Amino acid sequence: MRPGFGGEYRVSRPREKVYKRCMRVLGIETTCDETAAAVVELKATGGGNILSNVIYSQIAEHAPYGGVVPEIAARAHVEAIDGIVRSAMEQAGLWFNDLDGVAAAAGPGLIGGVMVGLTTGKTLALVADKPFIAVNHLEAHALTARLTDAVEFPYLLLLVSGGHTQLIAVKGVGDYVRLGTTLDDAIGEAFDKVAKMLGLPYPGGPHLERAAVTGDPARFELPRPMHGRPNADFSLSGLKTAVRLTAERAAPLTPGDVADLCASFQGAVVDVIMDRTRAALKMFHAQVGEPCALVVAGGVAANNVIRSGLQRFASGSGLKLVLPPPALCTDNGAMIAWTGIERLRLGMVDDLSFAPRPRWPLDTKAQRSLNGKA
Ligand code: KG4
Ligand code: ZN
Repeated sequence: MRPGFGGEYRVSRPREKVYKRCMRVLGIETTCDETAAAVVELKATGGGNILSNVIYSQIAEHAPYGGVVPEIAARAHVEAIDGIVRSAMEQAGLWFNDLDGVAAAAGPGLIGGVMVGLTTGKTLALVADKPFIAVNHLEAHALTARLTDAVEFPYLLLLVSGGHTQLIAVKGVGDYVRLGTTLDDAIGEAFDKVAKMLGLPYPGGPHLERAAVTGDPARFELPRPMHGRPNADFSLSGLKTAVRLTAERAAPLTPGDVADLCASFQGAVVDVIMDRTRAALKMFHAQVGEPCALVVAGGVAANNVIRSGLQRFASGSGLKLVLPPPALCTDNGAMIAWTGIERLRLGMVDDLSFAPRPRWPLDTKAQRSLNGKA
């Protein structure tokens, strides 16, 4: 028998290789106010190819209420999900039969929305007879840097979004140590609340950043909560209150005052993020070792001033910084599909009885945060 053509070699090795190179997973995301679906393919060299990434943002439906209304979100997901999944499959040029698995975010998030995406994912997996993967939305944010940049474990993750603010040691798929969390508001939530206070439209984060461009960050002195504390926890409510009191004292506010307040708030947030990340890095060294990178995820990571602050911090600390493109920092289906691939290739598949989880901490050993959001 010629070498390489023995029974076992021919049957098992090439098949495994082909399977890994072509692994394609559909991912569905409905935990908050984005209805999203995407198909991602595992690259032979590591990392992933995004074959499609379709997002329907419900912002316009929630804007009149100044925040996400759970009932409106759930209904909007029901109405949008079929079309979004169909577009994702069409743009990828695939049939359901071509997939290797179906992944859906099963939490944490708004229960009505989670149920819509999870039920859709389970149904498609059942009908197409494919493995099903129930994805933790936070894990999907945490692993996005491996989709875009094939980052090796372990790494330090700063997750900053509207619902979450955490510093996490990512040691492997399903292996997380939470180093810090917020004791009250998430950073995105603080951006949104401060923006609302200053009369800016919803969602406040991007509007506040825009208003701050012409502002003077040194005009108003604002606190840097938790500064210098050895733990890596955040607290944003004192900063938010300080902005409110400053705005009340300076009222009536001119557009220039608003710009200066926005810039001062944003500057304080950048300082807080850098200080807390510094504390987390020390904890990482003590508990895990040397991180391969500092990875940033979540909607707030779209902020350019925060991005450059982190760039300065990373180069000062000799750390590689991985900042996925803004479209992959905010909620999307590609991160769910990618997490599906990461789990599927380790054989981590789920049963169709998997229940939606409004709360689902990444580090199950960590105490629940005081605001209950993690
Ligand atoms: O990750 P994401 O899309 O949704 C979740 O919360 O899971 O994050 C949305 C949050 C909102 O609070 C939004 O105001 C904030 O990210 N955000 C920003 C910016 N873009 C989005 N905050 C500050 N500056 C931005 N440019
Ligand atoms: Zn998110």
